[in-house]
Amino acid sequence: MTSIINQIDPARVPAHVAIIMDGNGRWAKSRGLDRCEGHVEGVSTVRKITEIASETGVRYLTLYAFSTENWNRPKEEVDALMHLIVVAIERETPDLIKNNVRLTMIGDFDRMPSSAYERLVRCINDTSHCTGLVLNLALSYSSRWELTRAAREIARDAAAGLIDPAEINDETVAAHLATASMPDPDLLIRTGGDFRVSNFLLWQLAYTELYFTDTYWPDFDKESFCRAIIEYQSRERRFGLTSEQVTT
Ligand code: IPE
Ligand code: IPE
Ligand code: MG
Repeated sequence: MTSIINQIDPARVPAHVAIIMDGNGRWAKSRGLDRCEGHVEGVSTVRKITEIASETGVRYLTLYAFSTENWNRPKEEVDALMHLIVVAIERETPDLIKNNVRLTMIGDFDRMPSSAYERLVRCINDTSHCTGLVLNLALSYSSRWELTRAAREIARDAAAGLIDPAEINDETVAAHLATASMPDPDLLIRTGGDFRVSNFLLWQLAYTELYFTDTYWPDFDKESFCRAIIEYQSRERRFGLTSEQVTT
């Protein structure tokens, strides 16, 4: 573990890592367990990855915990997931404070049970003074929901004469997204073996480096996270420029 951490160049750690935490259900199934057992195990991975992200100097960690589409899963699974979120936040808040981690969240919270939402807001308030890693949970989140909401807000401002439609640019849109206060992700990790973005941060991922692994989320560990960072550091980010332009 120490040796793999040492392979990370501290000067080029991604400021923002986003993760699609996938594979809990299949992890459980492969062990003859209920899907929900996979979610329980997935929570301990969240704990470990939050720690290693802090240790390596990542500034923002955005975790896709529950998508808009996930509301259509069987009611028992949705209820179990909401309950698990409340229990985990309740249990982890003291350690988040101790580790100087600030919790934030993005998503359509109107659809969340008020008990879960209120518990999360309490943790957000309790950690609001923390200056270390920002742990950003995407809950009841989808990029199309977020972009549609941004379009609605911008249209409303234009109709009210507050902005000139001709002046709407990239920055106007970005300022209306739930991630307005954060830089775009530098690295996206998806566990669980699928190669898709599943309605996650479609705008923000424009120039993000993508990293896919077959490892199911409950098996993803600190070493796996370090390996993803090391792979990220081997990439050349060109942002549409030529290789010569970015290296000189
Ligand atoms: C990811 O694991 C967690 C959530 C989407 C809430 P899944 O539950 O999607 O696990 P698989 O993809 O079915 O294995
Ligand atoms: C993506 O996983 C959403 C989260 C990890 C919360 P899904 O399991 O919902 O995605 P699909 O259905 O495989 O695209
Ligand atoms: Mg899945």
